[in-house]
Amino acid sequence: MNIIIKENYQELSTFTANLIAKLIRSKPDCILGLATGSTPIGTYKELVRMHKEEGLDFSQVKTFNLDEYLGVGIDLNKPYHLDQSYARFMYEELFKHINIKKENIYFLNGLTNDPEAHCKWYEEQIKKAGGIDLQLLGIGRDGHWAFNEPGSSLASRTRVQALTKQTLDDNYESFYKKAGVDRSEMPHFALTMGIGTILEAKNIIMIANGSKKADVVAASLEGPVTSQITASAIQLHSGGITVVLDKEAASKLKNTEHYMHVENLKLKYNLP
Ligand code: GLP
Repeated sequence: MNIIIKENYQELSTFTANLIAKLIRSKPDCILGLATGSTPIGTYKELVRMHKEEGLDFSQVKTFNLDEYLGVGIDLNKPYHLDQSYARFMYEELFKHINIKKENIYFLNGLTNDPEAHCKWYEEQIKKAGGIDLQLLGIGRDGHWAFNEPGSSLASRTRVQALTKQTLDDNYESFYKKAGVDRSEMPHFALTMGIGTILEAKNIIMIANGSKKADVVAASLEGPVTSQITASAIQLHSGGITVVLDKEAASKLKNTEHYMHVENLKLKYNLP
C-alpha cells in the first residue's frame, strides 16, 4: 500500500489527477471507476484543466460510477439540474467539461423500476468492459466506501443499501442543504457497488482530506479489517493501492514516519 501524505487539499488533488492522467495517457481506452462527494471535486477540476490546457483525451475512456441515491437520477424527459443525483454531480463537476462520449459513461440508475435486475446488469457491464483499471474512492465518516455502510459484507456485490443517519446528515450538509432541499426529502436508500465489486478493480486510489476523516482513515488503514468500517477492506486488495491524504486526514496514523520514509526512498531511487 502506498500511503502519500500531501501538505494540503490542492496538492492532494493535483497528485491524484496526475495519477489518473498517467493511466489515460498510457491506456487511452482505460476503464475508470469514479466517486462522488466533496473530496474528489479538486481532482476533477484538475482533470478538466488538463483536458483544456494539455489536451488530456477522454474520447476512449469508459467510466463506471460507484453509487446513486434510489429514487433520483437522470430522467431524459426532465432537465437533470433539478435533482441531487450523483449523475448530475458527475456531469456538473466533470463530464460536461471533457470530451468523454455519453455512451461510455455508466451510472447506476436511481430511477430504475427493478433495482435487483439493474444491479445485476451493472455488474455485467463492468465485466463486459474488461473490469475497472483504476477505482477512485473517498471515505465516509462512518468508514464507508461508496454506500457500503457498516455491516455490509466485505464480499458484497452491487445492490440496494439503506443509509445511516450519519451519512444522511453529512450528505445533507455537503449537498442537499446548499441546494435548498428539505432534510426530510432526502432519499434513505441507495444503489451501490459492493465491496467485493470494488476489490476487483485492478488499482485503487483512496483520497481523504480534513481532520474529520482522521479517525476513520487511521482505523481503515491501521486497524483490523472489519465490516464495521468497510473501507478497511483496502487491506485485502491484491493490486496497486495508493492512498492520498492531506496532513489533517493523516494526523491519527501511527506509522506516518515509515510511510514518509518509503516515499522518500521511492523518489530517491526513482521507483514506481
Ligand atoms: C458519500 C459517497 C461516498 C463518499 C462519501 C464521502 O457517502 N457515497 O462515495 O466517499 O460520501 O463524501 P465526502 O467526500 O463529501 O466526504
